[in-house]
Amino acid sequence: MSSKPREWKLEPASFVVVANRLPVDRVENPDGGAEWRPSPGGLVTAFEPIMHRRHGAWVGWQGAAASQELEPFEHAGLALVPVPLSSSEVEEYYEGFSNATLWPLYHDAIAPPQFRREWWDTYVIVNQRFADRVAEVAAEGAVVWIQDYHLQLVPQMLRRQRPDVRIGFFLHIPFPPTELYVQLPWRQQILEGLLGADIVGFQLPGGARNFVRLVRDRLGLETLRDRIRTRDGRDVLARAYPISIDAKGLHELAAGDQAAERAAEIRNDLGDPRVLFLGVDRLDYTKGIPERIQAFGELLAEGRIDPDHVVFLQLAIPSRQRVEQYRQLRDDIDRLVGRINGEVQRIGRPPIIYLHVSYPRVEIAAFYRAADVMVVTPLRDGMNLVAKEYVACRQRDDGALVLSEFTGAARELRQAYLVNPHDIDGLKDRMVEAMNDSSRNKAQRMRAMRRQVLENDIDKWASMFLDDLERLNGTPAAREAAG
Ligand code: ADP
Ligand code: F6P
Repeated sequence: MSSKPREWKLEPASFVVVANRLPVDRVENPDGGAEWRPSPGGLVTAFEPIMHRRHGAWVGWQGAAASQELEPFEHAGLALVPVPLSSSEVEEYYEGFSNATLWPLYHDAIAPPQFRREWWDTYVIVNQRFADRVAEVAAEGAVVWIQDYHLQLVPQMLRRQRPDVRIGFFLHIPFPPTELYVQLPWRQQILEGLLGADIVGFQLPGGARNFVRLVRDRLGLETLRDRIRTRDGRDVLARAYPISIDAKGLHELAAGDQAAERAAEIRNDLGDPRVLFLGVDRLDYTKGIPERIQAFGELLAEGRIDPDHVVFLQLAIPSRQRVEQYRQLRDDIDRLVGRINGEVQRIGRPPIIYLHVSYPRVEIAAFYRAADVMVVTPLRDGMNLVAKEYVACRQRDDGALVLSEFTGAARELRQAYLVNPHDIDGLKDRMVEAMNDSSRNKAQRMRAMRRQVLENDIDKWASMFLDDLERLNGTPAAREAAG
C-alpha cells in the first residue's frame, strides 16, 4: 500500500505527537521518485487511530536517511512533520544509541548493551533537532505528547524553549530495574531529560516505581508516591498507563467479508489443518521466536503433535536489519526452521511456515481469525499489542492465547495460557494444553479477555493520559497561556 502526499500549510498545532517515526516511511524508487509506505511497530498501530480522531500534528523521522529537509505534508488525513536524519545519524542515534544501547538495556539486557560515547553525542544532537521542530509547530499553550526511548531528552529541551506548553512523555518499552539502569553512563542526563515533562507515563506500575526511586536516590529529589518535585518547583507525575489498541475497529475489520474470506483461504492454502498455531512479530530478539519454534519442533519430534494435522505459521516483519544482533537472529531462525522442517520424514507441506512479509491490516486480521492457538512468547515486552489484537479479532469465544508472563499484556490478560518462555518444557505443555483444552474452558477464558480488551481500548488510554495532563496545573507559563 502506498500513496502520494499532499503538501500541507503549516498552521501552529494545539496537539502535537512526537515520535521517532512517522506512520509512513519514505521509500525511494529506482526511477528517482519516492513513495510512502506504512511503517512497522506497535507505536504506529496505537497512534494512528488516536490522530485520526483528535487531529493535530505528528512530528517524526521519515524512516530513511535524507539529505534535505522535507516540508510538512498531509497523508491519509494525518498532518505529518518530517524530521530529517543523515545516514551517520541513522547509524549512531537510531541503530546505535536507541537500538544497541537503550533497547537491550531496557529489556533486561537480554543482549549486552553497548555504550559508545559518539552514539550518545549524536543522540543529544538529534533530540535537540526534534525539540526545535516541535517548538516551531506547537501553538501557544499546546499539548505536546512525546513518545518512547528515542526521545528521552526532548521533554527538558522543549521546556527550555517553550515553557508555555504542556508536555507528556510515554515510554512504550519497559523501564528497567534500577540495578540495570544505573549501568548507563548518561543515566543522570536521561532522568533530567524526562523530568522536563509534566507526566512521565509507563506501561506498568513497576516501571513508574523504578523511575521514582531513581530520581529520589540518584538526583536527590523529593517524591511522594507517584509525584516528584523538581528543583524548579514543578510537580511531575510518574504513573502507569497500559497502552491498548483500536479494539472495536479491529474487531469490525476481522468481522468483515474480506477478512472472513481470506481466513478461509489461508486455512485452505495450509492444507486445512486441524490446528493452526500462529506467531506474529517484529523480527526482534526480545520476542522469544526461537523459543516457541524450538518448543514446537520438540513436540513434533516427541510425537505429541502430528505434522499431518498441525501447522505453525510464523509471520515476522523484518526490523532494524543493519543492527548485528538482528542479522544474527534472522540467520538463527532460518536455520532452526530449516532443521525442524527437514527432520520431518515425509514429502509434502512443511509443519512450520515462516514468512518475512509486511501485511495490510485486513490480512493480519484474517490471520488472527484463522488461527486456533496464538503463541506470544517474548522474553520481555513493554506491552505486546499482538496479544490484544488476536483477542479483539475473535468473532466467537473460541481460540486460545499462549502468552508470556514477561509481557505487559499478561497483567491484563490473566486468562491466557500464561508461560515462562525460558522454560521450554513448560512452554510445550502449555501449547498442548491450549490446543486440546475443552471448548468450554477456552470460551470462558476468551470471553473474559475479550471484555477486558474491548473495554480498555486505545481511546480510553489516550483519554486517561490526556485528562491527567489537562488536570495538572502545568507550568506557571502554561497557566498564564490558559488564561
Ligand atoms: P512492537 O511494538 O515491539 O513491534 P507490538 O506487538 O506491540 O510490538 O506491535 C507490533 C505491531 O506490528 C502490531 O500492530 C502487529 O499487528 C504489527 N505487525 C507485526 N507483524 C506484522 C506483519 N508481518 N505485517 C504487518 N504488521 C505486522
Ligand atoms: O514499541 C517499541 C518500538 O520501538 C516503537 O517505538 C516502534 O514503533 C516499534 O518498536 C518498531 O521499531 P522501529 O521503529 O525501530 O522499527
